[in-house]
Amino acid sequence: MSSVAIENLDIRYGSVHVVKSLDLEIKDGEFLVLLGPSGCGKSTLLNAIGGLTDVSGGTIHFNDKDVTWVDPKDRGIGMVFQSYALYPTMSVERNMSFGLKIAGVPKAEIDKKVKWAAELLQITHLLDRKPSALSGGQRQRVAIGRALVRDADIFLFDEPLSNLDAKLRAELRLEIKKLHKALGSTMIYVTHDQIEALTLADRIAVMKDGIIQQLDTPLNVYNKPANEFVGTFLGSPAMNKIAGAFSAENDGLVFRSGSFSLDVSGYPFAGKVEDGQKATLGLRPEHLRLAREGDAAWSGTVSLVEPMGSDILAWSDFDGITLSHRLSQEEHCDVGEPVSVTADVKKASFFEENMGARL
Ligand SMILES: Nc1ncnc2c1ncn2[C@@H]1O[C@H](COP(=O)(O)OP(=O)(O)OP(=O)(O)O)[C@@H](O)[C@H]1O
Ligand SMILES: [Mg+2]
Repeated sequence: MSSVAIENLDIRYGSVHVVKSLDLEIKDGEFLVLLGPSGCGKSTLLNAIGGLTDVSGGTIHFNDKDVTWVDPKDRGIGMVFQSYALYPTMSVERNMSFGLKIAGVPKAEIDKKVKWAAELLQITHLLDRKPSALSGGQRQRVAIGRALVRDADIFLFDEPLSNLDAKLRAELRLEIKKLHKALGSTMIYVTHDQIEALTLADRIAVMKDGIIQQLDTPLNVYNKPANEFVGTFLGSPAMNKIAGAFSAENDGLVFRSGSFSLDVSGYPFAGKVEDGQKATLGLRPEHLRLAREGDAAWSGTVSLVEPMGSDILAWSDFDGITLSHRLSQEEHCDVGEPVSVTADVKKASFFEENMGARL
């Protein structure tokens, strides 16, 4: 078992600065997800932890040991990549045992390990097959099995499920979660799929341009995004954003954008906001609901209706502002109909105008 401490890590490729003065601590047994858009440096960071990429500055410790320049094979890690990279001419059993054979592990021990991993991943019946005779999901199980048989303290996953179809992805996601529970190992998992991140992680590190924007539990990252980027990166469809300004009115504080207004007295501001200060309001579609008698509501017209199965996503125009909002199946409405919605200000997010930090 291992904790990981990354301090002041810099990775450059020539003039390209990919990872920037990055600090990150991962607890022993934690499932940490690195989430971010393509090119933000997730794989580069993961490869540095695994020893596959040289760093330009900073340190990486496993427990108290400085591993920054330790050979990958001596780091006690197991890695699983997006491409399964199985040996096509070897059976599943050979693919899983090959690394151990090279390392000189006794045969009886290898057999025991392979049997254990195959049972855990439910691929025992496939041990004699070649990779070409396996489905994508089965191949990825073998790739995971190959990482499992090595006595790893830390498992590194780089988008292991992104080549699979949606149903298989959901199935294997659950398997990986169970595996983490069963092994209790430290796992670092790269993805740009927010559902994977939200369902698997103990904590998510949201990255952009080589910098961690927020490191927190899935619920906090989703509900209390540290800045506008995190708020919009998570959530589908994206958070509604309304640019406006605060105004002090009748002993309270109101957010206004044209004819649109929201009483924000109940919002837990992190610091002080001024009368006239500009900001962006972020509202998730599920945080808007149909107004009832007596609610302070916005009136508009439904412009698009998307049935999603479990609920309905509606897009409505409110005096020049288009907002997406979720409806239950019973609340069905049609395009062109009038609609009145309201929002719980406690669930909203406000971001400052320039830097986009959460207010
Ligand atoms: N060997 C290299 N030489 C030069 N630039 C590189 C090299 N490897 C990666 N990069 C650059 O570093 C940046 C980060 O790449 P990285 O592969 O870490 O992104 P990522 O977040 O994993 O993206 P994706 O989700 O697409 O896999 C990219 O701009 C990429 O072009
Ligand atoms: Mg990558």
